[in-house]
Amino acid sequence: MADLKASRPVDAIAVINSSLTLPNGVGVQNRLVKAAMAEGIGLGGGPPRKEHINLYKRWGEGGWGIVISGNVQIDCRHLASPHDLTLSPHPDTLSAYIKLASAVHNASSSPPLLLMQISHPGLQSSSTINLSRFPWEAAVGPCSARPSVSEGLMGWIWEHAVWPTKSRQIENVKEWVEIGNKFVEGAVFAEKAGWDGVQIHSAHGYLLAEYLSPLTNPKPKPLPDVPRDVPIRLHLLYLILKGIQDNTEKRFIKAVKINCSDFVEGGLDESQAADIVKSLVSWKLLDIIEVSGGTYSQPAFASPETLKSPSSSRQSLFAHFTTSLIPFLSLPPNGPAIILTGGLHDRSLIASSLLDRACDLVGMGRPACLDPHLPTNIILNRDVDEMEAVVGGYGIPGSELMKTMLGAPTQSSSKGGVRLVGAGISTTWHEWQLCRIGRGVKPDKSMHWLKALVVEEVWFEVLKGGPMSWWRYWKG
Ligand SMILES: Cc1cc2nc3c(=O)[nH]c(=O)nc-3n(C[C@H](O)[C@H](O)[C@H](O)COP(=O)(O)O)c2cc1C
Repeated sequence: MADLKASRPVDAIAVINSSLTLPNGVGVQNRLVKAAMAEGIGLGGGPPRKEHINLYKRWGEGGWGIVISGNVQIDCRHLASPHDLTLSPHPDTLSAYIKLASAVHNASSSPPLLLMQISHPGLQSSSTINLSRFPWEAAVGPCSARPSVSEGLMGWIWEHAVWPTKSRQIENVKEWVEIGNKFVEGAVFAEKAGWDGVQIHSAHGYLLAEYLSPLTNPKPKPLPDVPRDVPIRLHLLYLILKGIQDNTEKRFIKAVKINCSDFVEGGLDESQAADIVKSLVSWKLLDIIEVSGGTYSQPAFASPETLKSPSSSRQSLFAHFTTSLIPFLSLPPNGPAIILTGGLHDRSLIASSLLDRACDLVGMGRPACLDPHLPTNIILNRDVDEMEAVVGGYGIPGSELMKTMLGAPTQSSSKGGVRLVGAGISTTWHEWQLCRIGRGVKPDKSMHWLKALVVEEVWFEVLKGGPMSWWRYWKG
């Protein structure tokens, strides 16, 4: 593939619209990736519903190069949100995932590639919010702990309400191997359901990120059947990626999402993350690596989009990490494509990130909830000029009030407060936009957070979407 720098002077649209070939030979039609976003539809886990199909059809029509699903949990008792999709033993599971894949693939004459994000939330899974297990049933992780969301009384209250018990530490090597196998089975399942690939969620403080972090996994144990030169901390990820490679076709895309930093003291830092990326690349088991950052304690991935990284004028929080790392990596298709996600919300910024090789692909999250056709409508639309091709920078009506009431940092007092609550307020509002698209209603940028809570969450998802799925779940 030609180096994009050769194409200066810049035609931003041409840069973003250029195709790319992944190491497994599969072509991506342009550089825009709809980032993984939990859809917030329905309750209680389970396979995709008709609202998911409607939503993904819209993304399928939108001109994206790749669409990545919201996190699909490998264990229906361990959810990240009560709405998560799961790989459940329910008999309709395979056919529902097949329907979703065909909705995307048949949505337009140039459909995106579709990746399933396979996930386990680890010790961050709440029993009281998700109601997928009894409140006293612990989450699992490489250590026994409870996420720390803030100092002070408010933090203590949130932590104990959301995680009534500390997580159960998985000490048994066999249990780790079984978890690894579930990720591999998830990938095999996705291929069978007609998806183009998987993304293994190893970021945001979820189970695989906890395994990588020196804070939550200070003394990892070696796992069986891993080559000697693989660092012990990477054994689980190696087993998963090798298992997927051995059990799927070459064309099946293998991606991973990892943190460039946990942004907490003692957690994964940037130099450790850089070493991890270099190891991952050396195994030649991956087509795509997505870089993100943060955990529930410090949810950098959900930062206000106006945030700037300390050492970069770009609005992407993680660009300084990829920019310094990428010179050591081979260009795709000789090495995996790097996706940078977070705050890349205008055409010129996206184009300059590609030209400066901060990334090979750009992930977009929140704005894709307000316009699923973002590429064709705005970013790649020559009728929309550069100044107008800006899709971020909006506020959420009512969010400052909610942040004050629920103890999150606000614009006027950005220090202190429970950051996870602030991230949750933004995430839920965006999920409610996705619920609207799923119901066939237009997203509403002016929707007040409190109104959305009542209408979208309580009425449509809990009252209408809940009892049916609970019944299905408890019936097994
Ligand atoms: C509604 C919503 C749901 C999300 N769910 C997931 C998820 O399931 N998996 C994941 O890796 N990231 C998830 N994220 C994070 C996004 O993938 C992305 O990293 C983040 O929104 C930053 O990108 P942006 O600035 O373009 O929004 C979610 C974000 C939002 C807004």
